[in-house]
Amino acid sequence: MSSLASNYNRRKISFKYGRGAFLYSTKGKKYLDFVQGIAVNSLGHANPKLIKALNKQAKHVWHVSNAFQIPEAEKLAKMLTKNTFADKVIFQNSGAEATELAIKAARRYFFSIGKPHKNRILCIKNSFHGRTIAAIYASGSKKMTEGFGPKVPGFDHIEFRDFEPRFPNIRNKIKKNTAAIMIEPVMGEGGIKTIPDKCLKYLRKICNEKRILLICDEIQSGVARSANFFAFESSKIKPDIVPIAKGIGGGFPIGAVLMTNKVAKAMQPGSHGSTFGGNPNACAVGIEVMKQIFKPGFLNNVKKMSDYFFSRLHNLKINYPKIIKEIRGKGLLIGVQLHFNQAKFIKSLEKNNLLTIRAAENVIRILPPLNVKKSEIDQAIRIIDKVCDKYS
Ligand SMILES: Cc1ncc(COP(=O)(O)O)c(C=O)c1O
Repeated sequence: MSSLASNYNRRKISFKYGRGAFLYSTKGKKYLDFVQGIAVNSLGHANPKLIKALNKQAKHVWHVSNAFQIPEAEKLAKMLTKNTFADKVIFQNSGAEATELAIKAARRYFFSIGKPHKNRILCIKNSFHGRTIAAIYASGSKKMTEGFGPKVPGFDHIEFRDFEPRFPNIRNKIKKNTAAIMIEPVMGEGGIKTIPDKCLKYLRKICNEKRILLICDEIQSGVARSANFFAFESSKIKPDIVPIAKGIGGGFPIGAVLMTNKVAKAMQPGSHGSTFGGNPNACAVGIEVMKQIFKPGFLNNVKKMSDYFFSRLHNLKINYPKIIKEIRGKGLLIGVQLHFNQAKFIKSLEKNNLLTIRAAENVIRILPPLNVKKSEIDQAIRIIDKVCDKYS
């Protein structure tokens, strides 16, 4: 009998070790891991460069309070601002904490300019922003909020379908007290649904018109997962606030909120804090992740592997039209939508040594490491083909 509470429906496999795209189970089975901790291990398991960076830091300083200077946090923040829209960064430890802070920063901005009544956040219904008490109400999902009342006020919702073709629905939802629109450029848990670039452009336009802020939650889609550093980049817009987590730590827990100077000015001393946010070990690993991602050719290779993966999956869709309904996603954040519930299919993939994970709307989520090899994609395609064949 496990002493862990039963809030997860865990699969009955545990692992002895991982290397790159592969996990080796305690029972001696080798799995192609296209979950990677749900888009966390951006550079695969046991990446030697990350191990070296962590070991080096661990021999020096593990932790100091944010009451002191933290050079590793300074360096990682500098790398993030140099390579993105952002002027300033606040470190957190996880995705949900980062979305919470994104909401706080938006509200604090309006407070700081004498408009504290502007505090509502407009989100997409059934999106995913984490499991803290505010984040579940931001997500607007019945399943996630059930039993956790009272309802946290301050959130309004639009439907994903409001993005196209009926844009005016979004405009109508913006009220006098709306502070920000918060979206995931690619809805991960929600079924790998991509907000089209022209809709992102439109969102930026109405945020400018209404003088409200745009928050892009890039916790799953960010840090090169989309083949750009951020998924919103393909639309050429600039958001005001971007929470990140997952991939930036390559497996080490870290979260961050990136923001423009305009917003950051509101975050004065004492306005926010976190004991572990900016932890030297986490930041040392984050620095190495950034170094690897910004090496010449890295992002191009993510794009190349993504194009290859998508073309092979589209071929499978043509071969198995009664099984595969749609191929979704951006970069290496990939969704294969089935015509039926995907649970047994995922189990069959697992039996054939390929690990994947579910998302909403019958979607199988495929999240290889960003340095995945063509041969590993070929192996995954062979397994998916075999399981499709069994189903047809
Ligand atoms: C878009 C998005 N936001 C927020 C979160 C929450 O992150 P965490 O689980 O680290 O709290 C997730 C996690 O899946 C996510 O995908």
